[in-house]
Amino acid sequence: MASATITNIHAIILAAGEGKRLKSAEAKPLLPILGKRMIDFSLEEFFKFTEQRELKGEANVVVGHRKQEVIHYIGLLSSNSNNQQRISFSTQHQQLGTGDAVHSFFKEYPLHQSHYSLVMCADTPLIRATDILQLYNYISQDPSIDGVVATFATETPFGYGRIIHKGEHSLRIIEEKDATISEKQIKEVNAGLYIFKTSFLKKAVQGLTNNNQSGEFYLTDVFIDDSATLHSFKFENGDKFLGINSLDQLEEIESILLKEKLSLLREKGVRFLSASTTYIDWDVTIDKGAIIYPHVMLLGNTSIGADTIVESGAVIKNSTVAKKVHIKAYSYIDASSIKDHASIGPFAHLRPESKIDEEVKVGNFVEVKKSVLSRGAKVSHLSYIGDAKIGEETNIGCGFITCNYDGKQKHKTVVGNNTFIGSDCQAIAPVSIGDNAFVAAGSTITETVPSGAFAIARSRQVTKEGLAKRFLPNKSHKPNK
Ligand code: UD1
Ligand code: MG
Repeated sequence: MASATITNIHAIILAAGEGKRLKSAEAKPLLPILGKRMIDFSLEEFFKFTEQRELKGEANVVVGHRKQEVIHYIGLLSSNSNNQQRISFSTQHQQLGTGDAVHSFFKEYPLHQSHYSLVMCADTPLIRATDILQLYNYISQDPSIDGVVATFATETPFGYGRIIHKGEHSLRIIEEKDATISEKQIKEVNAGLYIFKTSFLKKAVQGLTNNNQSGEFYLTDVFIDDSATLHSFKFENGDKFLGINSLDQLEEIESILLKEKLSLLREKGVRFLSASTTYIDWDVTIDKGAIIYPHVMLLGNTSIGADTIVESGAVIKNSTVAKKVHIKAYSYIDASSIKDHASIGPFAHLRPESKIDEEVKVGNFVEVKKSVLSRGAKVSHLSYIGDAKIGEETNIGCGFITCNYDGKQKHKTVVGNNTFIGSDCQAIAPVSIGDNAFVAAGSTITETVPSGAFAIARSRQVTKEGLAKRFLPNKSHKPNK
């Protein structure tokens, strides 16, 4: 159980709630948002903040509703990043309120000893590391402050806890359900982001009661303690504290995040021909000089290199596209890599594990799967390349098919360098064709073609002079129009 390492700051991320109003098939913290899960944002921004301030920080996620799914997801996530060992969990068995959620952490980790505790909710993905930093700078500049709550002013305070100042450094937070009519008029509200001295918070949550309209243990009641020094820190822009409790809030936040993503990319020198029709996941990277046409989707952990052009209708998922590549209209690219100066499409389909080298051309209606196309190779029209390796500068004619599947197993096709394959050929895998070879059009290749060889595998043509009329319909007695 308890870890006794002393860290500067520790995050308690509240993620036990059910999120009933979302009617989602996913556990609330795992809601997909711009190619990520909702909980990713809080965790990543917290760790980014600790790096910026060079702090030793750990995070604890308070789980409850569908906790196994949340723990499983975060476990996978942290095993792929350097945040391994820095994320732990505590369980809130019944959702008795935000104060009880924080208390659940201290009950599970009684020996925990960070200096400060940051409390944030898992459903506010617009909070950035710089916001946490501002709050931390505020509390850490004065060792006498026991806690600080982030606030902002809004014309629509409904649902938020209202801030009542009771002197310069004393305040109360009144929840919507408990507020009097005049308190409801207050426009300054609790943003739901706090930093406390851990020693203060631990004691304060132990003493909470649930004597209020909701019958919940409110975290906000820790501000009642007049013997402590408790401050508020007002943020100018409250939009970043928007939370997700319903599907329309989810859509609203997604569109704010997408706009934020597009402006970050613009600052890097990416040109969008129609930003409002472009969809880009949060983790996608694009380098300077790239041009993104209307109606493009870039998904997952895709990266696009400098000066690359992505034309309309392209969907690129979990793929690495290098610089000066031309992705032509309506191409679908999944888990593949494409090197400099290659050209793909229009209407090409790169299925997972396709490796496209420099200056390769993949033309229209070409499907590639788990194959390597080496530098300068050309597959210009209507082909299927599956489980194959195509050599450098090799030209594949129109309509080539690697027959890679015998109904039970997949087999490999290997084609060497500088080879020419005529139109409408098939390679019955496993089979190999060497370097500088020539395969005549219409051939079905079943045996090895050695380097330098010419192969032709089609039946000879038979021509019978004058016989065509036997097969053609007789048009002689049709009336002229
Ligand atoms: C809370 C604040 C309110 C503030 C608002 C900002 C309290 C009592 N009120 O209200 O002052 O203006 O946030 O958005 O804190 N959770 C648990 N266990 C629980 C209850 C909640 O883990 O038993 C988690 C939820 O999953 C969520 C977060 O805590 O991530 C906030 O809970 P929520 O019910 O949304 O609080 P609000 O009513 O929004
Ligand atoms: Mg909320």
